Amino acid sequence: MARLSDDFISEIKYRNDLGELAASYMQLKRRGRNLVGLCPFHGEKTPSFNIYTENGSFYCFGCGVGGDVITFVMKIENLDYMEAVKYLAQRAGMALPEDDYDDSMNRLRTRIYEANREAARFFYSTLNSPQGAEGLQYLRSRALTDRTIRHFGLGFAPDERFALGNHLRSRGFTEAEMIAANLVFKSRSGNSVLDRFYNRVMFPIIDVRGNVIAFGGRIMTDQKPKYLNTSDTPVFNKSYNLFSLNNAKNSKEDSLILCEGYMDVIALNQAGFTNAVATLGTALTTDQATLMKRYCKEVILCYDADEAGQKATQRAIGILRNVGLAVRVISIPEGKDPDEFLRKYGSKGHAAFQNVLDGSGNDLDYQLSRLKSRFDMSASQGKLGYLNEAVKLLCTLDNPMERDIYASRLADETEVAKASIVEQINRGLRQKNRTRKREEFSKLQKDISARDDKVNPQHAANLRAATAEENLIAYLVHHPDRLSYIHERLREEDFATDFNRKLYAYFSRRILMNTDPTVTISADFTSDEQSKVYRIINSYEPAGASPKALDEYIGIILDEKQKPSEQEIRNSTPDEFTSMLSKLKEKRQ
Ligand code: GTP
Ligand code: MN
Repeated sequence: MARLSDDFISEIKYRNDLGELAASYMQLKRRGRNLVGLCPFHGEKTPSFNIYTENGSFYCFGCGVGGDVITFVMKIENLDYMEAVKYLAQRAGMALPEDDYDDSMNRLRTRIYEANREAARFFYSTLNSPQGAEGLQYLRSRALTDRTIRHFGLGFAPDERFALGNHLRSRGFTEAEMIAANLVFKSRSGNSVLDRFYNRVMFPIIDVRGNVIAFGGRIMTDQKPKYLNTSDTPVFNKSYNLFSLNNAKNSKEDSLILCEGYMDVIALNQAGFTNAVATLGTALTTDQATLMKRYCKEVILCYDADEAGQKATQRAIGILRNVGLAVRVISIPEGKDPDEFLRKYGSKGHAAFQNVLDGSGNDLDYQLSRLKSRFDMSASQGKLGYLNEAVKLLCTLDNPMERDIYASRLADETEVAKASIVEQINRGLRQKNRTRKREEFSKLQKDISARDDKVNPQHAANLRAATAEENLIAYLVHHPDRLSYIHERLREEDFATDFNRKLYAYFSRRILMNTDPTVTISADFTSDEQSKVYRIINSYEPAGASPKALDEYIGIILDEKQKPSEQEIRNSTPDEFTSMLSKLKEKRQ
């Protein structure tokens, strides 16, 4: 890839203010010169996400992720570097320097999208040809209308092993591209490629930007596996995407209905509930919850009524609430899934499901009623057991009014004085608060040091030197005019840790070339490295640090360099050890 010029990147960043852009994804509050909010990249209750308006960067002290506006868009929109640059260029009305964009990975992604789109067309036209009669018959037997079939672009993969491969080849796709798209795979002999999907009805999975990113294929008999899905590819990660979010994002509702299966979502759409989505054959992930949060405030869980579905519901409640979504839970009567339910009601499906929706309670109602069924409420022992567990649940509510309403309800239900229930809740809350603070803190420390270790594995063993190095680097970035002063006193070899040495060299070079030292960090460092770089730049006290502090940093780095390393001490002969010791003493005088 021809490298984008510094000027171009500079212009992109100048025209896309990070604070303003981030504000369209999250709530931000001003704190001094910076902005803070709840981190969009991990679940948290107290804000540790900071935007540094002075240099257009962000850093989260909770999950240790940092970067600039390009990194932010990459992470929040799930784009690669060039895609993010393109997105920001477009947003700012800038033209991309033409032959600059398109590295090989990007080209491959584009080809995979194209191959998938062509495959979807192929499956769709096969479904509507004599060869697809069985598939069409199957979909109709599941009460789907032609309009629904067209709307979802459903298709049919013929009962042949070379049909799609041959078709794509005739359209100019290489085997490598088809394999990368997971549409075909190499036969065991290695001499040919075979279609991944055959004799199945096909469900294209389309992302919010309208790209066909994957397929699900259902067998029409009781054979296994019932559904076959595209494995992860360079354009598809099943834990990150949701089926039909492309439709749901246009719905007027500010809630999403989350189901288990493709067919549930399609049946709900057909009945007029276009805000339905489903996970792609896996349990709900935090990434998917975060993704949903971008499009709604509330998720209505609509899993199967069986025990597995109820277990999954419990799990999902936790994940959704953790990213700050409100949750309601639907129980479909008569042990059915939404698709079966709607089919049973036929043309009255919409009204019937709306009725179920209206009767749905929030996640707490759901959990309380499940809880209650476990206790014998006619015995005082049972009541007490229920109360204890229920109080624990109420402690998970953040809203004091909500807690109060439920406390009243519990008091009525159990005929226990409300005051004592409230007292229990308050006690629980205090304890929870203490635990949470401890946990957040220790997790923060663990995460950040794990990340640091990966990026700078020599950090821990050289704590004093590495900290001084980082302070010095931060100082340099904020006072680039001090470069020659530092150069006269310190050489790159004096650095104890390789990563900091590399970083120091990087910034020195850029300052010498008279370019903004930080502008292309997101292009030149990996995501973990960037996080560390922005932590160094933003969290040491550099801006206000005095020239005296700079001398201190230099002093510590040189001082630490004199010291023999632990390794050297361990491997030294007695003579060598004595000489090390006397050198150290000399230095001290
Ligand atoms: P229908 O029988 O067609 O109504 O399917 P369903 O939507 O009711 O599916 P089910 O509840 O059995 O499964 C829910 C979802 O799990 C499906 O939509 C698939 O995404 C996934 N799934 C089901 N069976 C399989 C399987 O055999 N393999 C894989 N990988 N995923 C499956
Ligand atoms: Mn079903």
